[in-house]
Amino acid sequence: MKIVVLTGAGISAESGLKTFRDSNGLWEGHDVLSVASPEGYANNPELVLDFYNKRRQQLLEVTPNIAHKALAALEKEHDVVIITQNVDDLHERAGSNHVIHLHGELLKVRSTFDENLVLDWKEDLNLGDFCEHNHQLRPHIVWFGEAVPMLDIAIEQVENADIIIIVGTSMQVYPAADLIQYAPYDSQIYFVDPNPSIASSKQIKVYAEKATTGVPKVVANINALEG
Ligand code: APR
Repeated sequence: MKIVVLTGAGISAESGLKTFRDSNGLWEGHDVLSVASPEGYANNPELVLDFYNKRRQQLLEVTPNIAHKALAALEKEHDVVIITQNVDDLHERAGSNHVIHLHGELLKVRSTFDENLVLDWKEDLNLGDFCEHNHQLRPHIVWFGEAVPMLDIAIEQVENADIIIIVGTSMQVYPAADLIQYAPYDSQIYFVDPNPSIASSKQIKVYAEKATTGVPKVVANINALEG
């Protein structure tokens, strides 16, 4: 069975990482566009780098939760691809092997001149940091207003899914929120979110609860289908 999972900030909430839209529209005290747009970076690069340095250090202190692990365990029996809007690496640390990061990765940086020049980066990133080709480095994050390079690959995955599991996303940010439109009409969709933005239907089964309780139930449900 081909299972495609679409995750958002909610799956990492119980690991201790804050979601975006639950906290009065501010992201850790900042207007989102001031820290997550090319304009914000041009206006105040130090603020933006400091913001992501703090997020990066915070990420190194948290661990995957039961929901990340339950999704990783699905790989034992199924062909599983995770499409995440999250920039954390908690899916990988839980053991998932096929993770597509739509919005980039916190533990990577890239050249400001060449988006394909990407490096692993666990330390703080400073304005004086350049790659070996002398390119300025910036966070490997897809900011608002920038293209989403992995989108076509993500669409193709959704188009070929038997089962789609959506976890912890407000479905407010496009193009990620549009991915569900590509679900085959005969696919089964599960949606886990304590504040779900989608209603149940013949095709969609909604679990209005937290990821750590809802995702294991979805996994049990899928395993029961098999048996
Ligand atoms: N388990 C599951 N879902 C949860 C939990 C939890 N414990 N706690 C909160 N949620 C849900 C909320 O109900 C909400 O629907 O997680 C969702 C978080 O929504 P957003 O904060 O909007 O996060 P997301 O959908 O991932 O945002 C998309 O927006 O700012 C950009 O690029 C950023 O990738 C991000 C994108």
